[in-house]
Amino acid sequence: MKILVTGGTGYIGSHTVVELQEKGYEVVIVDNLSNSSIEVLDNIAKITGKRPQFEQFDLTEQKRTAEFFAANSDIEAIIHFAAFKAVGESVEKPLMYYRNNLISLMNILQGMIDNRVKNIVFSSSCTVYGQPEKLPVSESSPIQKAWSPYGNTKQMSEEIIQFTSDVNDLQAILLRYFNPIGAHESALIGELPIGVPNCLMPYITQTAIGIREFLRVWGDDYPTPDGTAIRDYIHVVDLAKAHVIAIERMIEKRSNKKVEIFNLGTGNGFSVMEVIKSFERASGVKLNYQIMERRSGDVVEVWSDTEYANKELGWKAEKPLDEMTLSAWKWEEALAKKRD
Ligand code: NAD
Ligand code: WQD
Repeated sequence: MKILVTGGTGYIGSHTVVELQEKGYEVVIVDNLSNSSIEVLDNIAKITGKRPQFEQFDLTEQKRTAEFFAANSDIEAIIHFAAFKAVGESVEKPLMYYRNNLISLMNILQGMIDNRVKNIVFSSSCTVYGQPEKLPVSESSPIQKAWSPYGNTKQMSEEIIQFTSDVNDLQAILLRYFNPIGAHESALIGELPIGVPNCLMPYITQTAIGIREFLRVWGDDYPTPDGTAIRDYIHVVDLAKAHVIAIERMIEKRSNKKVEIFNLGTGNGFSVMEVIKSFERASGVKLNYQIMERRSGDVVEVWSDTEYANKELGWKAEKPLDEMTLSAWKWEEALAKKRD
């Protein structure tokens, strides 16, 4: 059973390829390596004993994408991770984000229709909910006006998939991730932020290893118990496993709905300070940090209602926060060893 994983050398993609291969799926990765490295393939091979098929090209190239689909007619399903994902950069360069994230999706959907590939899993984000009025946030919570072009590409992508599936023989599962962190227990794959990280976890580990001087905690005057903002952090391996279940669900036709939406979170909200404390506890390293003003565009708190995904997918995130922060630390240490 061959699965196309776009963006499969990236952070979430690489962990998902591992889980797919461990379940016996054959994987073909398409990635242009704009935000990942070719070495990831060797490391996937070290973990699973199998090097996935790999094709390097840009999915915004329509002709190249069409040729790829024509040459790989045995693809059963697609997991579409490939996208740009930096919220701040998307505000600076909106067209770059709309072009990359939307055109690649449209080329893939066209390839599916032309070659009768019926199943797609799409990487969406809890960012579509903005600051929800009611917590925890369930799949039926209203979508809010996007705060960034990046978030807007996720909302638009969901709609493009919905309307395309309405008139084609195409099934989709849209997965709205909360905040994925951590790395594979082997420390062979993990998150590789290019430049200065925006996200909390890589900023913490880079500070602890000495790349950054101190962590800036963006605001401690939020209406939360300790004043820092709250998110639903989920271990990337738990997240990866949900993709395998989504693929099985579509292939085995466990649902007759054309498009399904699932939140992927743990259901637990942790504050920035709680993540810092967890990191210090798990790694034994004291973190240098300073409290700053709030970061603009940040929501106060968001965490997932997991009931629907737990019940319908039969999936539950299992790994606790300390395991997430420890695995992120082991990955940072492994990167440091490689640099030495
Ligand atoms: P990532 O940047 O590590 O992986 C994305 C991969 O896609 C990279 O390897 C990149 O080289 C590739 N890519 C980008 N544009 C491409 C194109 N036009 N053609 C071919 N390859 C291309 O990102 P990630 O964290 O693994 O995220 C994967 C998906 O999940 C993205 O769609 C992202 O928006 C979504 N998502 C991520 C998070 C998060 O916090 N990491 C949260 C919610 C949703
Ligand atoms: C988490 C918390 C920060 C860095 C982003 C995207 C979202 C999704 C996940 C893709 C916040 C605080 C952070 C730092 C800090 N991605 N923080 N100091 O903002 O919840 O979500 O990634 O879809 O779309 O917006 O994640 O990791 O940046 O921040 O204090 O140096 O950590 O203020 O409260 P966020 P994050």
